[in-house]
Amino acid sequence: MLEKLKNIQIQAELDLKSCDSQLKLDQWKIIYLGRKSELSSVLKDIKNLEPDMKKSVGSLGNKLRLELEGMFTSSKNLFKTEKKDQISGPDYYLPGREFRIGKLHPVTQTLREIKKAFVSLGFQITEGPEIEWDKYNFDMLNIPEDHPARDMWDTMWIDEEPNEKGEKMLLRTHTSPVQARIMENQEPPIRVIVPGKCYRYEATDSTHEWHFYQVEGLAVDKNLSFSDLKGTLYEFTKKIFGSDTKIRFRCDYFPFVEPGVDMSIFWEGKWLEILGAGMVHPKVFEKAGYKDPDLSGFAFGMGPERISMIKHNIDDIRLFYSNDLRFLNQF
Ligand code: FA5
Repeated sequence: MLEKLKNIQIQAELDLKSCDSQLKLDQWKIIYLGRKSELSSVLKDIKNLEPDMKKSVGSLGNKLRLELEGMFTSSKNLFKTEKKDQISGPDYYLPGREFRIGKLHPVTQTLREIKKAFVSLGFQITEGPEIEWDKYNFDMLNIPEDHPARDMWDTMWIDEEPNEKGEKMLLRTHTSPVQARIMENQEPPIRVIVPGKCYRYEATDSTHEWHFYQVEGLAVDKNLSFSDLKGTLYEFTKKIFGSDTKIRFRCDYFPFVEPGVDMSIFWEGKWLEILGAGMVHPKVFEKAGYKDPDLSGFAFGMGPERISMIKHNIDDIRLFYSNDLRFLNQF
């Protein structure tokens, strides 16, 4: 009997080593500690043994039972901690974390709307340099050096010596110089818009920034008339502000158009000016080298910040570029 108990112990220890799951451990318990286990039958038979054997088999048998129960409990705990470790690893069933992407700046959104509207009217999109020669910003647009109209655009000059032709560089004060660049390089027909940044040396207030966007428009073809200009801008306004928006043209002066106008829209009980426009001045065609007498064209320049302000009811243009997320996150 004592020998049998020794063998049970050796076999139980060996088998326990191969238990690599809770299930196998439970089976091990049934085999070595269950009611039908060898150890149970040894313990049940004790009563039939000689008195001196009763004592030694009894004490060894009970000692082995306690040992096997201890082995079972500590192995069970081992599996429990392994499980805990698994839980602390990645849980692939958790809902994903929200990935926050940035937003488009409200002026960028307005620029995109403006571009989309003009593309649908058959215009192409192009760009020009922000650091410009005074020749394109002024001279080619019929604004000679001594002309008082230069004061209409307070200029930030680049601190460089003029080139050999006496030309100076500046931060462009409007997008109109790109008109001259396009006409210099391209034959009509032309239908193009030019979005881009402009800079003016002027005090800021609720409707004026020292840096702002403009979108220039230029159309050159045979026999274009002022009606084409009005029709194009009216269609544009309907696309941006809605189909029943009223527009108004008033005379205005720009040296590179004749006649010149400004255009306002009627918005929440007020007329608000959004752009300057007119028919391309013959002198501008002449400087560009266009000679065909049947050619005519119209041009316009608008401020996307002002359009964005009207659309979103913003009362101060400076909010756009003060980088306040409480403002920007609303769009
Ligand atoms: C011009 O700059 C002309 N080049 C526009 C033009 C183009 C006329 C082609 C005729 C033909 P003006 O300075 O008015 O014009 O500016 C045009 C628009 O730019 C204004 O209606 C306004 O919306 C915007 N703008 C002008 N100055 C500022 C400023 N300081 N801050 C924000 N927007 C401005």
